[in-house]
Amino acid sequence: MLKRYLLAPGPTPVPPEVLLAMARPMIHHRAPEFDPIFQEVREGLKWLFQTRNDVLILASSGTGGMEGAVSNFLSPGDKALVINGGKFGERWGKLCKTFGAQVTEIKVEWGHSVDPKQVADALKKDPAIKAVYVQASETSTAVTHDVKALGQIVKGCPETILVVDAITALGVFDLKTDAWGLDVVITGSQKALMLPPGLAFVSVSEKAWQLAEKAKNTSFYFNFKREKDNQQKNQTAFTPAVSMILGLQEVLKMLRAEGLDGVFARQAQMAHALREGVKAAGMEIFAKGTPSDAVTAINAPAGVDGQAIYKNLRVQYGITAAGGQDHLKGKIFRLSHMGYLDRFDVILALAATEMVLKGLGHPVTLGKGVAKAQELLMAK
Ligand SMILES: Cc1ncc(COP(=O)(O)O)c(C=O)c1O
Repeated sequence: MLKRYLLAPGPTPVPPEVLLAMARPMIHHRAPEFDPIFQEVREGLKWLFQTRNDVLILASSGTGGMEGAVSNFLSPGDKALVINGGKFGERWGKLCKTFGAQVTEIKVEWGHSVDPKQVADALKKDPAIKAVYVQASETSTAVTHDVKALGQIVKGCPETILVVDAITALGVFDLKTDAWGLDVVITGSQKALMLPPGLAFVSVSEKAWQLAEKAKNTSFYFNFKREKDNQQKNQTAFTPAVSMILGLQEVLKMLRAEGLDGVFARQAQMAHALREGVKAAGMEIFAKGTPSDAVTAINAPAGVDGQAIYKNLRVQYGITAAGGQDHLKGKIFRLSHMGYLDRFDVILALAATEMVLKGLGHPVTLGKGVAKAQELLMAK
């Protein structure tokens, strides 16, 4: 028997309490019993997003939320500024072009964080830019962009909104949606929210709603205005993913019990211990910019194929991690620590990585990375 462990940057493990909540008998979304549940999760999401605005709940993967964050705010011909530092930044560019926007891209070398000054300069040069699109955590490189600094910059541009893909950031590290001026924040269910894939969540600021009033793109399913009008009445425009919403109710109870600070501290401690353990084991972290506390990208040691590490973790030890994407394929592998994970998942990840490397003939002293992480994880 091979016990399975899910250490990929989504989907992530789902707690048993949440699985049980989702196994409850189906209820009807137009029946009165749905109303208080939906009301409770809407309030919980505002708490989690640190916003006073509505957080829309959509039945889709995260990309559905991203698509809506383009189609609801931009008209064909509108200018968009896209920060592209990896696979998901690239997706912003593709989405904007799909809806006819004129895209200016700030290309960031993979592994680096964007320099906020470049964004400030681009906005100064072209004040007609309607929206800036960025990742808070670029999962393909395991690097964050400083969305707090970007929020400060975009706040000073009355005609521009900041759209943040927080799909592997929200619920991992602090994101003060309102206080930092993050106009649109998107996340998905299968990451730090500890649910199966299938829900996207989008918060929208007043400034962004004003832009939506003028936008001429159309989207029938991802129509944010119609969703808002319905969701304010504890309804959804279309059939919601009812069981997932029951699961979300349980997730929010768990997160509230730990508290936002507690969640962020746990995630930060695990990420730090993993990174330091990796270094102690003689490997290098890929990130040159600020590393994300959601997932860690690790350089494959010279002469070792990153895909073989990722594959052997799964085949020999039952651990599903992730490889590198595009030009990073074979060069890095990624271990996630976001969501329903604790200290021993970090130990497990390091122990198995050391064993895989040794198995591949790379000189590694077993236990070195593990010992370092143990020390760090004992600290309160
Ligand atoms: C940063 C980021 N953005 C967008 C997505 C796309 O989300 P989905 O696959 O749920 O559509 C992902 C998924 O891994 C992600 O990590």
